[in-house]
Parts: sequence; structure tokens; C-alpha cells
Amino acid sequence: MAFRTGRLSGDAPRDVAEYTSSLGFDREIYREVLLINAVHLKSLARMGYLSPDALARGLAALKEAYDKPLSLDDPRLEDVHMVVEDYLVTVVPEAGENLALGKSRNDSVATAIRMRAKARMLELADSALNLASRLLERSFEEAETIYPATTHLQVAAPATLGFILSSYASRLLYSLESLIGVYASLDYCPQGSAACCGSTLPMDRGWLASQLGFTHVLEHSLDASSSRDFVIDLLSLSLKLLVIASDIAEWLIHDLTAGLLDIGDEFCSTSSIMPQKRNPVVLEVIRTKASEALGEAVRASSIIQRRVGGYVLDLQQVTPSIWRSLKEACSALEMLARVVETLRVDVDAALERCGLLAGMVELANYLTLQHGVGFRRAHRACGRLARMLVEKRLTEEGLREALQAEGIDVALGLEEVYRVLDPRSIVASYATRGSASPGEVRRMTDAMRRRMAELREWVSENRRVLEGIVKRAFNPQVM
Ligand code: ARG
Repeated sequence: MAFRTGRLSGDAPRDVAEYTSSLGFDREIYREVLLINAVHLKSLARMGYLSPDALARGLAALKEAYDKPLSLDDPRLEDVHMVVEDYLVTVVPEAGENLALGKSRNDSVATAIRMRAKARMLELADSALNLASRLLERSFEEAETIYPATTHLQVAAPATLGFILSSYASRLLYSLESLIGVYASLDYCPQGSAACCGSTLPMDRGWLASQLGFTHVLEHSLDASSSRDFVIDLLSLSLKLLVIASDIAEWLIHDLTAGLLDIGDEFCSTSSIMPQKRNPVVLEVIRTKASEALGEAVRASSIIQRRVGGYVLDLQQVTPSIWRSLKEACSALEMLARVVETLRVDVDAALERCGLLAGMVELANYLTLQHGVGFRRAHRACGRLARMLVEKRLTEEGLREALQAEGIDVALGLEEVYRVLDPRSIVASYATRGSASPGEVRRMTDAMRRRMAELREWVSENRRVLEGIVKRAFNPQVM
């Protein structure tokens, strides 16, 4: 590349150039870099440093490269920024020669990453919304299907399958609120901060930001040209979504193994030796992705720390983590949405798994509310009953003994106990907001659907902004 030979004795050997080149992962920001260069040419023309004719030809050349991507195979060009400059110098020298006037790769790469990350985040939002919507569809259908809720992995209380499914949708929607926050923190434009301290060219940074689809200017030039702090938020967001995906996968694997649920054959594999096997391999892979995302977050944050001053090439090494993490998050959510679509439940097995034990809290409540027994005393008596139930020795006499042992003197028969412990009646009588009662599950499902419609609208609005950049950038009339 021509720019080396002034200061340095010549080109670096190919393997050395390859070692420091970002071309291997620059494809991800290729289009953004072209858009930034197009807007920069316009900025030069606005300041009178580029003729209208050179601008028009320069923009046409950049548009061509946008539609028909240039090769990123020669590592001696270091990175995509140099590939674009090299190309423009060749096809429109008047524009190419001044492409680096007032513009550094430092501010451009920071801008390109933010632009691309914004687009990727909208895709991620779509994937999360898609999964949430599949979950909520099933929640509505299964709002009455009795299903166990667990704590410490043991059956804890009777619930419904709709309640369990909608809990994951609820978590996804809260994460989408975080996504909006992270998106807003990325929506600050570094362009025009140049290499580190700004430029003596009177560039209008507000105009640059608006042309590149940003809401704000990231003012401080040293921060703008070098900071990657936002990457931590971005990778935490992927991680958060993948933790949810991993939890869903783990739950499905558990309950599949317990025979309560089943998923489509297309998401299972068999064994090369054990013909009877039907392994939930897709879910097994999904549940590992949170660990990968954690790895990327650790990787990126440990690369960006201990930086002094402005840009260092260490920062370049962070970038692939962003794309890998966002891509893995999207794929996991998409894959899970498809699995959820095929979900089947064994209603009888789920009811049986709930059993009577899970109703013990309600029996204690019943003793307290209907018979005036103190709750702690009732709790102990129910513990005794639970033990008898597990040991299959709960009889009328056992019941009397358990009550007596706790000094409870009420007339309570086994039939009444079984009636109170019935998971169906417990689920129907949950009375608190957000409980597992079918009415609450339906109400919450509706509320989440309404919020999802607003979130979809947010995605569309932001997508329109990003599409607007492309429509304007190469048009010399739009200044
Ligand atoms: N390729 C670099 C990156 O992806 C940008 C170039 C900055 N290089 C430099 N010598 N300042 O971060």
C-alpha cells in the first residue's frame, strides 16, 4: 500500500501483514465503511474540498463497490478502509486521493462497528420477539394444562404449562428492554473525531451523524475515536439472551427425559451404536451457547482494559467477538423458536408428576384459613403428612396422628385432604397477580403481546432509519 513507503522502507512481508490485518473479519462492516466514505466525500464537497463532479463520480464508484463487493483478500492492504481507498484512488483519483483528508481509520472503524452492531441488534430483537411470540402462542393454548413448577429441581407447586412457557417470554421481554437501552448507548456517532483529537477541517459532526443514521454525536474525540466500552454492554446483552435460551433448553431436556414433553424428530439425533436412542442434540448445543457468549465477553473486556490514551491495534482484536456473540444469540433464539413450535405435552404424565405433594402449602393454608390453626404448626403437620405420603402410609389413622402430634384438634378426613391437595383445584384458586392461575396466565400473555407489538414498532422505526442511510448516501443531490 502506497501509504507505507513514505515513512517505512516498503511493504511488510505477506505473513507479517496477514498477522496484523483485520481483513479476515472486515466483511462484516464492509457496507458500513462504504457508507461512511460516501458521506465523508459529501462532507469534503460541502466544505469546498471536492468538486461536484469528482463527488458525483466518487459516489458512483462507491455505490458500485457497495453493490458488487471488492475483494478483501490482499492482506498488504491491512484492512477494509485501505481496500476502499486503494480502489477509489484507482477509479476516481480526485476523490480517492483526498479520502483520508480529515478522516482516520480510528473514527471510521468505531463508527462502522456501531452502525453494524445497531443493524445486528435489530435482527437480534426480531429473533427474541419471534421466540417470545411462539412461547406466548403455546402459553395461551396451554393456560389450563396442569404442569409442575419446580424449585431446587424438585416439584414445588402445581402450575400450568402455559405459566412455565410464559415465564420465559417474560424474561425475553425484560431483556428486550435492556436491548433498547444498549441500542440507545450505541446511537452516538464517533465520525469526525479523526485519529484522536479532532481535525482542523471544519467538519459538521452533527450533519455526519445524521447522515449515518445516528441520533447523537459522540462528542469527545479521544473517547469517540478509541472507546470500546459499549462492547461490554453489547456482549452482556447477548449473554443475557443466551442465558435465557440455555435455561429453556435445559428445562426442555429435563422434562423430555422425564417423559412430560416431546419435540420434533428433526431436532433429535440417534446413536451410531444404540439404535434405541433419541437424543435432544439441538437443545444440547443451544444450552452451551451461553458459555460461548460468556467467553466472548471475558475475551473482549480483557482485551480492552489497560489501554492508555487513544487507539491501539488491540482494539481491532475485540471486534470479532461482537459479531460472533450476536450471531450465536440470533441463531440460538431462532432455533429454539422452531423447537417450541413442535412441542408436545403428555397431559397425564404432567398431572401425575405434579402429584399431591406439591399441594402441601395449600393444605397448610387451608388448616390456617378454615380451621384457625397457626401456620407454623400447620406447616409441621403437613410435613408429617408429606412424609407419610412419600412412604405410602397415609391413612385416616396416620392423618389423625400427624395432627395430634402437632397439637391440632380439628375434624379433618382424608377425602377432604385429597380434595385440597388436588393440583387442578389449587391452580384454579390461585388469587394473586402474576400467579399460575389460567386467568392470570391469559391476562399476562395478552399484556406481553401488547408490549411485543410496541417493540416490533420500535424495531421497524429503527430499521427505517438504517435503510434511509443507504438511500441517501450515494445520491449527490442529498447534501
Ligand atoms: N483495522 C483497524 C480496526 O479494525 C482499524 C485501523 C486502525 N489502524 C491504525 N493503525 N490506527 O480496528
